[in-house]
Amino acid sequence: MGKQRILSGIQPTGELHLGNYLGAIRNWVELQRDYDCFLFMADLHAITVPHDPKTLAASTYKVAALYLAAGIDLEHATIFVQSHVPAHTELAWLFLCITPLNWLEDMIQFKEKAVKQGENVSAGLLSYPVLQAADILLYEPDKVPVGEDQKQHLELTRDIAARLNYQFGSEGHPILKLPEPMIRAEGARVMSLTDGTKKMSKSDPSDLSRINLLDPPETIQHKIKRCKTDPIRGLQFDDPERPECHNLLTLYLVLSGKTKAEVAAECQDMGWGQFKPLLTETIIAALAPIQKKYAEIMGEPGYLEQVLKQGKERAEAIANSTLMKVKKALGYSLPL
Ligand code: TRP
Repeated sequence: MGKQRILSGIQPTGELHLGNYLGAIRNWVELQRDYDCFLFMADLHAITVPHDPKTLAASTYKVAALYLAAGIDLEHATIFVQSHVPAHTELAWLFLCITPLNWLEDMIQFKEKAVKQGENVSAGLLSYPVLQAADILLYEPDKVPVGEDQKQHLELTRDIAARLNYQFGSEGHPILKLPEPMIRAEGARVMSLTDGTKKMSKSDPSDLSRINLLDPPETIQHKIKRCKTDPIRGLQFDDPERPECHNLLTLYLVLSGKTKAEVAAECQDMGWGQFKPLLTETIIAALAPIQKKYAEIMGEPGYLEQVLKQGKERAEAIANSTLMKVKKALGYSLPL
């Protein structure tokens, strides 16, 4: 039996940070041994909020290089750019026409982002999860690894597939396969360095709130020096009164490879003055090999273009065949 397929993606907006790495990419690196992976840069999603045309392409390439630098292996994975495969936008349109408007108005992430944007909310932002459904369903993946915040979008994806199957398929012959969500454990969530109750995020206006994967050692040192802590001596996990303490210990735990019990014992009598340099060194050491590989990839002319060209070809072969299936079911004449 062939390997099961997974599909996931990240928006190429802003810098990728430790939260993206520990929450998503590192997880894919583990999964690629057992699954056939399709990983993409969601550059069409990136323009649902105001964006800068001058940086879009470069950011997209940067994310692709970081996937590779973090250990994604082209033997097991296909890496591609969403906008290079037109089937995404085409299927999204077909889906938009069978998706009730109120399903989209109910999406939590839309409501949150719309509030932040004020007057300037595009129809694209509302349609965002329909494009995501197209991203997913085109590849008929078995599982979709995402964070907790994407759960509702995956439910919508399944609802759209089920609705299409019900309205246009026949009993026992579904047109589209319903994928299973693969939601990461809460523990894998990396929180902001300036507020331990908020997720580490690309959209936080303060760069001090996150460690970017390409931050040089001095920047990492500066950010950890400045990060929020508390006045209590002795460090411990799981104290709801000390979210920053829990987050920083967790970062140390996952990046050092030690067990929770080991870290708890090692740090129970430490003050911040002792712990911060230890954490700084651990982060720098964990990111060094990724940064080195990133520089090598970026230094090799034409390499990334070649990877993305091959990725587009492999992705397109699957995507186009699914799109044809849907168009046929909807009654379109197909071009010869
Ligand atoms: N919305 C996802 C996020 O912000 C990114 C994304 C777009 C995605 N299309 C996808 C994730 C398809 C998984 C599958 O994280």
